[in-house]
Amino acid sequence: MKKILVTGGLGYIGSHTVVELQNSGYQVIIVDNLSNSSLDVLEGITNISKTPPAFERLDLRFKADVSDFFKRNNDIDGIIHFAASKAVGESVENPLLYYENNLNTLIYLLQECNTHEIENFIFSSSCTVYGEPDSLPITEVAPVKPATSPYGNTKQISEEILKDTCSISALKAIALRYFNPIGAHESAEIGELPAGIPQNLVPFITQTAAGVREQLSVFGDDYPTEDGSCIRDYIHVVDLAKAHVIALERLLSEKNDTSAPLSNPNFEVFNLGTGRGSSVLEVVNSFEKTTGEKLNYKIVDRRPGDVISVYADTKKANKVLGWKAEKTMEDALKSAWKWELKVRSGR
Ligand code: NAD
Ligand code: WQD
Repeated sequence: MKKILVTGGLGYIGSHTVVELQNSGYQVIIVDNLSNSSLDVLEGITNISKTPPAFERLDLRFKADVSDFFKRNNDIDGIIHFAASKAVGESVENPLLYYENNLNTLIYLLQECNTHEIENFIFSSSCTVYGEPDSLPITEVAPVKPATSPYGNTKQISEEILKDTCSISALKAIALRYFNPIGAHESAEIGELPAGIPQNLVPFITQTAAGVREQLSVFGDDYPTEDGSCIRDYIHVVDLAKAHVIALERLLSEKNDTSAPLSNPNFEVFNLGTGRGSSVLEVVNSFEKTTGEKLNYKIVDRRPGDVISVYADTKKANKVLGWKAEKTMEDALKSAWKWELKVRSGR
């Protein structure tokens, strides 16, 4: 049984991935510092997969603790690295927090990979590296645009760190560029738990419908899109989680591309999206239709920094990874609503 370290495995995407890993027969050890998650998530994971994953509370910013962890766990076959800070606005207010948490943690992990001969590494990247794209849908060879936030910059720099490390070591890495993850596990045992006021669209919608927020602000209806609101590629978190298992299997079975001429050997990048763009108003309408809940919303000014339209070209992930998003927007919104109701009921 291969043993996989999942950093940030109690977080939103990490917890769903741990479930899929365990369902696929992997032995999982989670490390998390609980800065944006709670121990309750362990129970949710265990309820779904009937196997409690190993867990250790560890702050990856502390190099000595990281070293100590790997000395005690010297049988790890691969790492899926989710742990990071992810609030774009907060990263503008506190850039050093983001550079420290998102870059130092990666560097320490890669140093341990070198010491302990761990060769398989999956990294959580983001479509934010593409900025406002020149053409749609976005392929992996689209240029990486100057980052508009320290958070976005950490993803770009992380990819560079990985590429450089792969080129001089035995490391094989895959950076998965997520588009907009939404939804929850259909069991409602795990889901997204934003701290404070949600910044992202779907948790804001579900909290508004649940009466926690008074009104959803739709940021702009004067964009050059069909209905004037921004377009994103919303992907169900369970589909996203499954892609990690497939990417890991690619590395473990040495199927990764070692000869890609444009990139460095052993470093690969994949878009993870549905390939379909949905506008904010389409998401709102779909939520109302799927759940039967009327949503209190109003159109307000544009949110500074928003790009107009972003959706993935998924051909590379479809053909090379053999992965395809299967769930619909309705599936995702239904699961997000079921999760919200569960959270509100306090169970
Ligand atoms: P999340 O905040 O729910 O999960 C991250 C987890 O990492 C949390 O449980 C947090 O406690 C933990 N963590 C943070 N710093 C840590 C540290 N120093 N040591 C140990 N644990 C630490 O976020 P998520 O939405 O699950 O995102 C996971 C990854 O995917 C992140 O790298 C994020 O940047 C990336 N990503 C997320 C999105 C999105 O919209 N959710 C989109 C693209 C990329
Ligand atoms: C989606 C759409 C908003 C909230 C962010 C990060 C990005 C990535 C994913 C990590 C936009 C609109 C939103 C609201 C609204 N994360 N909206 N009212 O901005 O595409 O991406 O999350 O890597 O880096 O920037 O996602 O969910 O915030 O917004 O109208 O209350 O919903 O304007 O068009 P975004 P989002």
